[in-house]
Amino acid sequence: MAAHACFELASIAAALGPLAGRFDIDVLAECDSTNARLIARAEAGAPSGLVIVAERQTAGRGRMGRTWFSAAGDSLTFSLLWRLPAGRPIDGLSLAVGVAIADALVASGVQKVALKWPNDILLGGRKLGGVLIELAASAAVIGIGLNLRLPADMPPELAPAAAALGQPVAVNELLAKLLAELHRALATFASGGFVALHGRWQGLNAYAGAEVQVLSPFAPPLIGRCRGVADDGALLLETGRGIERVISGDVSLRRA
Ligand code: BTN
Repeated sequence: MAAHACFELASIAAALGPLAGRFDIDVLAECDSTNARLIARAEAGAPSGLVIVAERQTAGRGRMGRTWFSAAGDSLTFSLLWRLPAGRPIDGLSLAVGVAIADALVASGVQKVALKWPNDILLGGRKLGGVLIELAASAAVIGIGLNLRLPADMPPELAPAAAALGQPVAVNELLAKLLAELHRALATFASGGFVALHGRWQGLNAYAGAEVQVLSPFAPPLIGRCRGVADDGALLLETGRGIERVISGDVSLRRA
C-alpha cells in the first residue's frame, strides 16, 4: 500500500513563516481534480491565495485533455488561485510558474532540474511534473503535479519517460517552498510580466540549442533548433526559414 503523503496545515504554515498569511490552504484526502475544485471556488468569488491540496485525485487533468495519473501519496498535487492584476496579459505565465517550481526544487536540494517548454518539469531529462493553468472568472487556476514516487499502475507507455523524486520527501516543507517561490515569481510576473523571469527560464531550458520537433494534432511536425523562448513566452525555433515562433497551445515538444 502506498505511503500516505500526510499533509498537515500546521507544518505547512510553520514552514511558510510570515508568508502563511498570504495563503488559505484546504487539504483534501480525495477529490476529482484540484483544478476542477478551485475553478468552482474561483467562480464563487474566492480570492488570490486559495490553495487546494489533495492526497489523491480520481480525475486529475493534464494538458491536451490527458489524464494526470497518481496514486494516494505518490504525487504532490495542488492548485493555487491567482487573480491577475487588471491589464496584465498572461503570456508566459506557465513559464513563470515553471521557474518557481524549479527554484523551489533546487532550494530543496533536488539536482538536475530543468524545464521543457511549455509546461513540463524535468528531472534528469524525464518528466517529474507538469503545470496546467486554467482560466476561470478572471482568475488563473494554477495546477501543479509532481511525482514523489512512480505509481505501480502507471501505464507502461508513460513509465520510461517519467521521473519521481524518489527519496523520502518532507511534503509539507516542499509544498511550503513551492508556495513561497510561486508567491515570489507571481509578484515579479505581476509587476514586470514574463520578461522579468526570461533569463532564469533560459538558464533552465532542457533543450537549449538541441534539435527538436514540435508536434501538433493539427499540423505536420515542425523541426528546428531550440533557441529558447521570446519575451512573451513563445518558443523560438531556428529552421531553414529563419527563426519561427511557436505559441503555446495544443502542441508538444520532443527531441528530434
Ligand atoms: C501536464 O503535464 O499535462 C499537466 C499536469 C497537471 C496536473 C496537476 S495535478 C494538480 C492539478 N489538478 C489537476 O487536475 N491537474 C493539475
